[in-house]
Order: sequence, then structure tokens, then C-alpha cells
Amino acid sequence: QLRTKIPEGLRQLPGPRPLPIIGNVLELGGLPHLSLSAMTKRFGNVFQIQIGMRPVVVLSGYEMVRQALVKQGEDFASRPDLYSFKFINDGKSLAFSTDQAGVWRARRKLAMSALRSFSTLEGENPAYSCVLEEHISKEGLYLVEQLRTVMDDSGSFDPFRHIVVSVANVICGMCFGRRYSHDDAELLSLVNMSDEFGQVVGSGNPADFIPFLRFLPNNTMKKFMEINGRFNTFVQRIVSEHYASYDKNNIRDITDSLIDHCEDRKLDENSNVQVSDEKIVGIVNDLFGAGFDTISTAVSWAVVYLVAYPEVQERLHQEIKEKVGMDRSPRLSDKSSLPLLEAFILELFRHSSFLPFTIPHCTSKDTSLDGYFIPKDTCVFINQYQVNHDPEMWKDPSSFMPERFLSDDGAELNKMEGEKVLIFGMGKRRCIGEAIGRAEVFLFLAILVQHLQFHKLPDQELDMTPEYGLTMKHKRCHLRATFRPREEN
Ligand code: HEM
Repeated sequence: QLRTKIPEGLRQLPGPRPLPIIGNVLELGGLPHLSLSAMTKRFGNVFQIQIGMRPVVVLSGYEMVRQALVKQGEDFASRPDLYSFKFINDGKSLAFSTDQAGVWRARRKLAMSALRSFSTLEGENPAYSCVLEEHISKEGLYLVEQLRTVMDDSGSFDPFRHIVVSVANVICGMCFGRRYSHDDAELLSLVNMSDEFGQVVGSGNPADFIPFLRFLPNNTMKKFMEINGRFNTFVQRIVSEHYASYDKNNIRDITDSLIDHCEDRKLDENSNVQVSDEKIVGIVNDLFGAGFDTISTAVSWAVVYLVAYPEVQERLHQEIKEKVGMDRSPRLSDKSSLPLLEAFILELFRHSSFLPFTIPHCTSKDTSLDGYFIPKDTCVFINQYQVNHDPEMWKDPSSFMPERFLSDDGAELNKMEGEKVLIFGMGKRRCIGEAIGRAEVFLFLAILVQHLQFHKLPDQELDMTPEYGLTMKHKRCHLRATFRPREEN
């Protein structure tokens, strides 16, 4: 492999010695968030590994990540040209494609504005502060009722199976103006395939780096292609229906607003960046995908943590009972009066780090970090898990302690401490669904904790070991729920 000459005054990146052909794949192993966190102890917060023949720079430590993604944001804002990314959204994904900076920026801006219009802006129903609150409140209550039916019928339930449908319905409502029944076969088969998706696009999948692996029989990869195909067909059909019934005086949802943008743009000859209609309307595919997988993983983990820490679950219920009561539904505006719930969510994000790495980044030009030279087009992994478990930043990082985010008397959230948790990335590629994600996890949990008490089955061992992927899932399991009486005294 040709090494770019290192400019004067800069050093060569440290890192483990690579083997021929496979590079450091063996050291990487099946749990790269752990193996790469361990390597920071040997090599520091910026080092290089080789996956196959391809060098990959790994960044750890809050300040180092901030230096790269915020202070030198432009240099680190691209995406690498990885094999699996070509299959996502037909290679036209906003989050995973190697779009030119101008095209990506224009699409990102459009996506943010469409999302905002159909989430946090005030809606038409005065009973809710915004459309997002309306969707979550309704789906949260459907979920409680659904769990009641399942518990009555079979005595236990699979948390992910039901949460994923409720969460998918919230984003379906915003993107497509519709919701699905908890038994809808098509939606269920789509949302239940997200495991394979995450396993393939998670940082460090060898098939992305070592070409010959693509030709070996590989079941996960086959399913990955299948899910992308089915996902695109599903979204395409809804988009076609929207084109057929589109009315510029009645923009119903995000899909309509993106179609509307294409129509408007045809009148505007001056726009300097050319983005195809397909790439504009295709944004909805990204929003739908990102909007259900991340949040359902978070809420489902939350339920597993409630079961693992029953005393925390009880205190959370008491907090809701005191501050919200049992007679009305929680609202987004209750957030500031529920510090323990907020602390629980932050600790859930930190401790699980269920998004252990951001989506891989790539350098857009020759650059340097901490005196080390990093050439253009180098793939960069951002280890969020390491930042959230860094013993330099966190006391006893492996313990689950929501109190670490509270003031000594427990009455207030320590916001500064909360900002150190890294789960949405930072800088130019930072998640655009962060406000929605935080709101949704908060409100779904508040509703669940208000109505239900979750338990494990008798003699059950809870296995909290995550399954590695872009989003790490807990192992599928069955739990029990009992219903809180409306008036408890
Ligand atoms: C990107 C986390 C919810 C849309 C990302 C990234 C992370 C992330 C880590 C990659 C950042 C990077 O590459 O540096 C999360 C978490 C969520 C969540 C933890 C929920 C708890 C959402 C939702 C939406 C969304 C609800 C949309 C409705 C996106 C998009 C990108 C992205 C479009 C790509 C941005 C780009 O490449 O410019 N998210 N996300 N996310 N997220 Fe989220």
C-alpha cells in the first residue's frame, strides 16, 4: 500500500501492527466498541487500525472528538464510500451517501425544515403543544392498551415487538400522515428486520473493507439487501400515492412538503445547487428509517433497565404520581418537573451507549489532529461508547446510577453533566432528529411508567449484554406488566 508522505512537523499515527490482507480484524473482534476502547489505553485518543487493507482512524475522548467534529468540522464531515452504504435508499441516502458537500448541505437543510414543520411546530389541536406531542400521547396510550390485551391473553410480552410499532407509528404519522395497527403484517415484517440492518452498517463490519468477503455466502448480508429492497418498495408506494393525491393548498405531511419543494424549485431558476427530485423526496426514506430504529431501541432498553433496577422504577413512578398525578397524561412541558426521569434517560443513553459509534465519517481533505497527519479520504470511527465510559470523565462508569445527573438533594438535574453524554454525535453531521428523539423517549417512558409496572418472569435471568450493531439491541425477551390502579393511596 502506498503511504502518503507525512508533511514536515507532523507525526505518523500510532496503532496496532496490521497483518497482511486482514489488517487488525482479529483484534477488532465482534464487539468493536469494547476492543477499540481498550486500545485507547495503549495508543491514546487518536490512533489508526487497518481493516483489510484500509486504514481507519479511531477517535475517543470527549475533547478529541470535539476538536475533530466541531473545531475542525469541515475536515471531518464527509462519509466514506463503504460497500454496504450503496444499498441504503438506492445509494441516495442523506445519512449514508457520499454526496458532495453542497448537495448534502442542501438536503440536510430541507430535511430539518420539513421535520420541524411536522413535529415541534404548534399543530391544529389546542389540546397538545405540538403535532409530535399529539402523536406520542396517542400512541403511548394505544401501547398501554395493547400491552393490557397481550398480558390478558398470554401473561407476558416481548417489549421490542410492541414498542417498535408504536414508535414507527409516530414517525409514520409525521412522514406519511398515517398509522398502522399493531398486527399489520407488512409494517411488522419491515420493522422487525431492522436487526440485520444495524448489524451490517455498524462500524467495523469487515465486509465493508475486505472485498473478497462479499463473495462468501453470508446470511446477514443477504437479509440486509432484502430489507433495503423492501424498505424502498414500501416507501416508494406511499410516495406514489402522495404524488397522485398531492394538492399544493393542503400539505398533509413531510412527504407532501418535500414534493411541494420540488414543484416550487421548478419555478426558481436561480438555485445554485442542483438536487434531483428523487434525492429530495428520498429524504423521507432516511427520516422514516432513522426515526423508528433509534427510538424504539432506546425505549425498549429503558423498559429492560426498569426491570433490572426495580427500586429506580418505583421512584420514577412516585415522581410521576407526585408531579403529574394519575388523572391526566404526562406532557412534554412536565419535563422540567421530572428530574429523576430525565436523569434516568441520560444514564440510559450513557450506560447502554446503544449507538456505540456514530455513522462512520471520512476526511474531506488532508488534515491533522493532535500533531498526527490524517490524509484526505481516510475513514474515521467516532467511539461514543468510549466517551460515555471514560474513567477520566465518569466516576465508576460501569455502574448504572441515574443520581450522577442529579443535584445532591435529588431535586434538580445537573445539565452540565448531562451534556457530556455523547449519543447524537456532534458538529456538522450531528443527528437532526435529536429534539424528536429526546421528546419521544421522555414522553413514551412517562406514559409507560405512569400506567405500568414491569417485572421479569419468575426465575428469569435478565441478559443485558448488547448485540453489536449501528444500534445495539438487547436480546429479545419476555417480560410481565401489571397495571397501576388510577387512584393509589
Ligand atoms: C444521524 C443518533 C433519532 C435522523 C445520527 C447520528 C447519530 C444519531 C449518532 C450520526 C451522527 C454522525 O454521523 O456523526 C440518534 C439517536 C436517536 C436519533 C440516539 C434517538 C434517540 C433520530 C430521529 C431522526 C434522525 C428521530 C429523524 C426523524 C437522523 C439523520 C441523520 C442522523 C437524517 C444523518 C445526518 C447526516 O448525516 O447529516 N443520529 N438519532 N435521528 N439522524 Fe439520528
